[in-house]
Amino acid sequence: MGNERDFFDQIAGQWDSTRSVDAKKIAELVEMVGLEPGCKVLDAGSGTGVLLPFIKKAVGSAGKITAVDFSANMLAKAEEKYGSLGDISFAVGDIMEFVPEHGVFDAVLCFNFFPHIKDKQRFMTHMRSLLREGGLLVIMHDISRQQVNAIHQDSEVVKNDRLAPGETVSGWLTTAGYQVTQIIDAEDRYFIKAIKS
Ligand SMILES: C[S@@+](CC[C@H](N)C(=O)[O-])C[C@H]1O[C@@H](n2cnc3c(N)ncnc32)[C@H](O)[C@@H]1O
Repeated sequence: MGNERDFFDQIAGQWDSTRSVDAKKIAELVEMVGLEPGCKVLDAGSGTGVLLPFIKKAVGSAGKITAVDFSANMLAKAEEKYGSLGDISFAVGDIMEFVPEHGVFDAVLCFNFFPHIKDKQRFMTHMRSLLREGGLLVIMHDISRQQVNAIHQDSEVVKNDRLAPGETVSGWLTTAGYQVTQIIDAEDRYFIKAIKS
């Protein structure tokens, strides 16, 4: 894991220039989550905070956002860019150990992050413990599963971080005690929405 954290620390400076941001598509994905003003949201594996302005727009000034990432360099970029938006907590640490200081979340969003989790079942169970009843766990990518896996395959460090088919991930979520309400495993995006039931 240290290896992967070092990897993200090292590429933090270039991340935003190598990552193309399709604002329209990201806005659509966040819209599909159905966040409401005032929601408390956890951005798991926030990286340089690509998702933060979109979440902020959805939850408004009454919302609270927590951005967690184990790469201090990635999260420092996020804070530099979006710290001024207000009501965003930046927490450096492994998501598997993360415990919020106050209360539970309405939604946990995993944007281009889920394949990096080694123990998927334990992650789903841990996120469930951080959600209120009826809260949402959303796994989403702004590219296809095939593209995610092709990108990872080219890197020695993340080559085993595979994104499984939507139906497979849905089965894991059901086993972990979620009700899956939407699965999109398409050519241009991947989106799974699950409710803590
Ligand atoms: C592919 S990047 C995505 C970043 C951002 N969400 C985006 O879409 O640009 C994955 C991020 O997850 C972080 N990460 C991977 N495993 C993690 C873990 N176990 N706990 C916290 N962060 C983790 C990495 O440091 C990295 O910043």
